Amino acid sequence: MKGVILAGGLGTRLYPLTHVTNKHLLPVYDKPMIYYPIQTLVKAGINEVIIVTGGPFAGHFLNVLKNGGELGLKHLEYAYQQGEGGIAAALALTEDFADGDSIAVILGDNTTDADISGAVKNFKDGVLVFLKKVPDPQRFGVAVFDQNDKKRLIKIEEKPKKPKSNFAVTGLYLYDNSVFDIIKTCRPSVRGELEITDVNNCYLKEGKLNWSELKGFWSDAGTFESLFRSNAYWASKK
Ligand code: DAU
Repeated sequence: MKGVILAGGLGTRLYPLTHVTNKHLLPVYDKPMIYYPIQTLVKAGINEVIIVTGGPFAGHFLNVLKNGGELGLKHLEYAYQQGEGGIAAALALTEDFADGDSIAVILGDNTTDADISGAVKNFKDGVLVFLKKVPDPQRFGVAVFDQNDKKRLIKIEEKPKKPKSNFAVTGLYLYDNSVFDIIKTCRPSVRGELEITDVNNCYLKEGKLNWSELKGFWSDAGTFESLFRSNAYWASKK
């Protein structure tokens, strides 16, 4: 399996910090944010990775990561996303890199100490999404479960005003290669983005979505509160 880290977008929710550099290079305690998803992939045995980035500071990634060797990568590639077309639009840029293989995708502002190596090893096809119980599900993609069978995920709702569960869909996903064909069938949402939640709901309709609860710490870092929380957690772990 190959690895994909999505680090595009302008990070406008973190202005003025993101006038300095790309969101994913901001510090999370003692490392640039992007180190954490790279380490999650390396720990899972994945050493061929592509980073999709964009915006005015894309060149900073080369300064920081170079060829990725110091972080344990054998192959590091970059793709440039023009504009902010959404997570699925960023993912679509990695089709040639994937070259028929399955991919482990992590959003560049997600940090976790969970070990996903077992899931990566056992992955066969479809999509595996990782869920995490959160106090503020309305900020995320949210899992909707069957009323009678509480383990059967029937739908994912993106940032619902009235969430039907406390389980957020985290920004870690394992996809088979059909993800690229599915993205081609998606249309932009009301906020003008190709949504990863629409892609996951397509898999769900085909009965090809599995889920697993992420163990340990997980947070995004796209707002001041979540960036602060991530910093505090990783500082306390040292
Ligand atoms: O963190 C998990 C959540 O991430 C999920 O629960 C949601 O379902 C998913 O839509 C996403 O929600 P956010 O609103 O938090 O996504 P955001 O726009 O902050 O983008 C998250 C990362 O995705 C960002 O750090 C970089 C990457 N991205 C995003 C966009 C919009 C790209 O690479 N390109 C893009 O165009």
